[in-house]
Amino acid sequence: MTIYIKPISLERPDFAGLLSGISVANGISKDDAAVIENGMNHYAVLVLRDQQITDDQQYAFSEHFGPMEQATGDLDKSGTRRLSMKINDISNLDEDGNVMAIDDRRRQFSLGNRLWHSDSSFKKTPSKFSILSARDIPASGGNTQFSDLRAAWDALAPEIQMECMDKICDHSQLYSRGLLGFTEWTEAEVAFNQPVPQRLVRRHAGSGRLSLYLSAHAGAIHDQPMPEARIFLRELNEHATQPQFVYSHEWQASDLVIWDNRATMHRATRYDSEKVRDLHRTTVSDNAPTLQQHV
Ligand code: OGA
Ligand code: MN
Repeated sequence: MTIYIKPISLERPDFAGLLSGISVANGISKDDAAVIENGMNHYAVLVLRDQQITDDQQYAFSEHFGPMEQATGDLDKSGTRRLSMKINDISNLDEDGNVMAIDDRRRQFSLGNRLWHSDSSFKKTPSKFSILSARDIPASGGNTQFSDLRAAWDALAPEIQMECMDKICDHSQLYSRGLLGFTEWTEAEVAFNQPVPQRLVRRHAGSGRLSLYLSAHAGAIHDQPMPEARIFLRELNEHATQPQFVYSHEWQASDLVIWDNRATMHRATRYDSEKVRDLHRTTVSDNAPTLQQHV
């Protein structure tokens, strides 16, 4: 079978593609991986339908694209977690497979996924790709929306681009959860989640294009008073999430969606949280901290 990619919307020919012609379960060749990587460089989001896969198959597929992250960003890193540490648990289920109670701390923490963010921007070396597999999907709601941060950069006024250029932001899950009033952390969690510096503007390696690097985890800008930093980031976020930059993915069970965290943000939308929603994420790491990458 040959791999074929076409834009999901003809109005947006360089953001969000539909990829057909591979079976993730059967494994892919190096050549297939190169075609997918090229497609990712162009589209930043790729949707694959009808991929019924196991966690091991998902992980093996993901490994083609770089070194793998462990799920250390999840709140629950204990031996009793539902999934292995190779898989980020993007569900509303507890370790017994039941919908989490409303006062379950993990459920409150996971509401952070409803804020626009880039995965693992709170890690020194952040994520390159996230690969999300839909295992069980509610009948309605719970879309994942993606914003195109390269297009958002291109559309900024030149003087704002200049202002952004050399800025360094601090990212931490303490900041993103703080936005929701989730503030009760253990000492160990605070120590583990200390802010890390990230460039605000990145050059996307695979396309050579510049991109904003925004995320709900960004909560401060170096050498700026906090309110100045926060309002600037808020305005950039509002700019970057206007409808013309957003693709909203309506999930079907067995969809697999790959996105490039270096050039996009995403968020989950609301759904009936008493219904099961179960997605499994594998995460490919970038090759260096953003401060070590050239702009
Ligand atoms: C993620 C994420 C959003 C969603 O998988 O990293 O933020 O719609 N998911 O569940
Ligand atoms: Mn995410």
